[in-house]
Amino acid sequence: MTTSNNRIPLIAGNWKMNTTPEEGHALATAILDGISAKDVGFSASRCDIGFYPPATSLAFIAGLCAEFEGCKVYVGAQNMHAEESGAFTGELSSAMVLACGSDSVLLGHSERRHIFNETDTEIGAKMKTAVEAGLTAVLCVGEKIEERDAGNTMEVVNRQLEAGIEGLTEAAQLEKVIVAYEPVWAIGTGRTATPEQAQEVHGAIREQLGAAFEKRGAEVGAREDIRILYGGSVKPDNASELLSQTDIDGALVGGASLDAASFLGICEGCG
Ligand code: 13P
Repeated sequence: MTTSNNRIPLIAGNWKMNTTPEEGHALATAILDGISAKDVGFSASRCDIGFYPPATSLAFIAGLCAEFEGCKVYVGAQNMHAEESGAFTGELSSAMVLACGSDSVLLGHSERRHIFNETDTEIGAKMKTAVEAGLTAVLCVGEKIEERDAGNTMEVVNRQLEAGIEGLTEAAQLEKVIVAYEPVWAIGTGRTATPEQAQEVHGAIREQLGAAFEKRGAEVGAREDIRILYGGSVKPDNASELLSQTDIDGALVGGASLDAASFLGICEGCG
């Protein structure tokens, strides 16, 4: 599908509603130590990594990672509100996320969409706010099993992607986006998409990104610089096969990101 590929893989851990600040600090420290340690055979240039801890740990983990030189480390929130401030009890603003020392945010995760009923429109508004604030926004998309079984995978993913980037009217804003394809039926189920199934969707997402760049006055080829992560039961033993696919540029990892050895094992899968 792609003609060139200079994309550095990104292995990102979505810790979801797990870890106290102390537990998160221990987990991140073990991972950073693993990357620094020559004896695990880890090449620092192999991948970027990301931590998406609970909001209560964000500043703590961002502080821990700020001085790390072993590889690029993104630290981000798992969600934020589209408005800049106001009467939104329990919510976080982009300014608060940035003030934690964080440089990124996950938006549109399937748990936000399906448990908390976030709509495409709300997620699009959050994407716009996040990118305008200077955050790297990770837009999560993915179909439910009944949507896949009905043959609607691409329709769902295209709709979520289109709505997610709609408010980003400049090509330079689109460049701040990372897409994560996470089939809902593969999240936390132990059932991973096959590398072929994942590649098919990733390739189609990249096609759509090309059209989106063109629409914003940029070259179609700008799509080659966008990272598209796969998420859904990624483990050390399936990572390398998934990551070897042309349009799979990393992983968004849930369960296996809570164990340093597993997370490092997935990083090793970057080749
Ligand atoms: P699991 O890796 O636990 O399937 O979770 C994936 C996910 O939701 C990452 O955002």
